[in-house]
Parts: sequence; C-alpha cells; structure tokens
Amino acid sequence: MIALRGRRIVLAVSGSIAAYKAVQIASDLFKAGALVDTILTAGALQFIQPLSFRAITHRLVASDLWDPHHPSGVLHVDLADFAEALLIAPATAHTLARLALGLADDLLGCVALSTHAPLVLAPAMESRMWLHPATQQHLAALRERGATIVEPGTGHLASGASGIGRMAEPATILGHLAAVLGRGGDLAGRHVVVTAGGTREPIDPVRYISNRSSGKQGYAIAEAARDRGARVTLITSAGLPPPPAVTAIPVESAEEMLAAVATACREADVLVMAAAVADYRVAAPAPEKIKKQDERLTLDLVKNPDILASVRGDFVRVGFAAETENLLANAAEKLRAKGLDLIVANDVSASDAGFAVDTNRVVFLSPDGVESLPLLSKREVADRILDRVVERLRARHA
Ligand code: CTP
Repeated sequence: MIALRGRRIVLAVSGSIAAYKAVQIASDLFKAGALVDTILTAGALQFIQPLSFRAITHRLVASDLWDPHHPSGVLHVDLADFAEALLIAPATAHTLARLALGLADDLLGCVALSTHAPLVLAPAMESRMWLHPATQQHLAALRERGATIVEPGTGHLASGASGIGRMAEPATILGHLAAVLGRGGDLAGRHVVVTAGGTREPIDPVRYISNRSSGKQGYAIAEAARDRGARVTLITSAGLPPPPAVTAIPVESAEEMLAAVATACREADVLVMAAAVADYRVAAPAPEKIKKQDERLTLDLVKNPDILASVRGDFVRVGFAAETENLLANAAEKLRAKGLDLIVANDVSASDAGFAVDTNRVVFLSPDGVESLPLLSKREVADRILDRVVERLRARHA
C-alpha cells in the first residue's frame, strides 16, 4: 500500500474515454486513505457521471465554476487551498493546452492557476494528437514549470488504431503521485540504492541456477524510500515490473549486480541489499545448450564475490540474513563480518514470512542491539527499515 493516508488530493477528470479509469483511481485513492475532491470538466461529463465519484469518495464532486450553491462562493480558491496535489487523469490535449497557456475559462483552469500544489498529469489521446508539435510544446512548458507527466503507453486506442496515447494504468499514476507527495519526506535529497530478487547464474544459454527469492521485499523498500522523498535506484534480478518513479536497473548474475551496485554507490547515501545473491556460479557456462547424454552431469561451481562486503564507503549499509536455523547467531556474525549498520534477519522456513509471500517477520540486529518485529506486511517492514536508516543518517550528520 502506498503512502497516501490522510493526503488531500484534487482529482480532475477531462473528456476522454479513459475517464472511466479515473473511477478506479478515485477508488484506489480512497482505499489508500486519501481525501479526494473531484473536478469533472464539461468534456468529462460527456463520458461519466458525478455520482460515480461521489459514491466512491464521499466528498465534493464539482464541475461548475459558477456554482451558486457553493457556501463560500469561491470554489476554485477552496479547492486550490485544499489540494496537496492536483492530479489530472485523464488529461486531454485540450486540457494540456489550456494549462500550458494558463486559461481560466472553467473550474479546473482556475484551480490550476490558483493552487501551489504540484501538478501530476496523466495524458490520454490519439497518437497523432499526442505527437503533434503543439501538444509536445505544451508538455515541455508544463514540465519546465515542474509538472510531473505520467507518460501514456502504447496499445489499443479509442479509434480502434494501435499507437501511443493510452493513459497509464491507475497503479502507475498513483506511484508517481506518491513520489510527488513524498518530496518533503525524511529521505528527501537522499539517494537510496536497493537490490532485489534472486540472482540468476547461467549454466548454458537457456538454463540458470537461482533461488526462491521473489524480490517483493526489495521492491517494497524501493517504493517506501520513493514515498519518503528519496531518489531510488533499484538493481533487480526479479521479473517484477519496476515501480513507478524509481530508476530500475535489470541485472541477471551476481557479477552483473556487483558492477551495477558499485556504480550506483559512487553517490549513494544508503545501500539496502535485499537481493538473494547466489553464493556460487558455474565456473564456465556452456556457450551452447547442454544436450542430455550421460547419466550424470557435474557442474563446477566457484564462489561469487560478496557484494555487500566489497562495496564500502560513506553510506548506510543494510543487509539481510535469510536463515533456516540459528537465526540470531548467524545474523549477528554477518552484521559483524560485513560491517553493517543494520541486518534484517528472517527465518525463511516459516510459511508466512520470507520468500514469495506478502508478509514478513523479521528481527533487526544493529550495533545497538536486537529488536524482534511482529508479523507485518512487506511494506510495513520496509518503512521500519527506513526508520532505522533515517536514524543512522541523522546520527552520522549530527
Ligand atoms: N550478499 C551479497 N553478496 C553475496 C552474498 C550475499 O551482497 N555474494 C548479501 C545479501 O544481499 C544479504 C547479505 O549479504 O544482504 C547476507 O546474505 P546471505 O546469503 O544470507 O549471507 P552469506 O554471507 O552469503 O552467508 P550464507 O549464505 O553462508 O548464509
């Protein structure tokens, strides 16, 4: 779950067939605990009814700048003051043009001009409208003024054609929104490098050795750091789609991961090694697919570099210890041997914690002592880890 609890969002919907997806966005925002006021433009009203939003958000849904029933009489100023973020999804070519020019001919235009809140725009339109130099110039102007543009994707369009212009998926839009809202967070200005997934060590061009790590805990840490204002580099060998507003660097093997981590850590404040790095790799992967011939096949394995132990520097270093026995003793030894600020130990033999599930039960070991945490979602574990990281960063700079 992303960090939107209690945040005040003005969701503006303009006239595109993608307006139906805005109902999903409103629902996701509501479920995440956000307070959502909605603006429907005249175009949006051609596609969708105010009641759809009112029933979901239980809050104001407005279209009319001149609404005689609004108590204060300055609806656009009230909405502008309320907003911590103004999210426009879908944003049509016409809406982008109006925003770029600063037109104030309807409620949305007036709110956009009146608010200090950051603007998050999720455009949706036919490819030719998107690619038109006028639209691109308006986008450039809006970007230059600090707006976040959640790029449309390529696929089926309302015309039946296929091309660029489909509005991004609600989850992607919410990820960008959370990143924007996190800008003032306790990791603002920090670069956090996170690794995730089990590395894949090639045997031949089609086979590899790996492990059961899903990458979920690492992804949750990357998202949580993003939502607390950090610039995040996620170095991942997991097959999951990258979180929005995070720089993802896909890697396969431990050696590739080491190279990517070493580069990213040249200017890092924090390294969280959540990846399950294979301890061994095949000494000489076969250049061609190995054919089944003999009754036995022996693979010669050599030790991989220890990434966490070898990448050192003036940044906070967090490791994981996945154990099936002697959890505390093994983790304490890793904390010491790798010179870490924190080690997150978990018993991966438990069915509700560790690999592939959405929950985790972990123990924190640091030079200050041991803390056992209850069963938590991986996102909650991520935030607890980052609480410790923030403490360490503060202590270092005190
Ligand atoms: N790690 C690493 N590079 C490796 C192996 C592990 O950076 N080659 C990191 C992991 O990402 C994790 C921590 O070190 O954060 C502990 O990993 P683990 O595999 O549990 O520890 P090992 O030291 O490899 O010990 P063992 O496998 O013997 O339990």
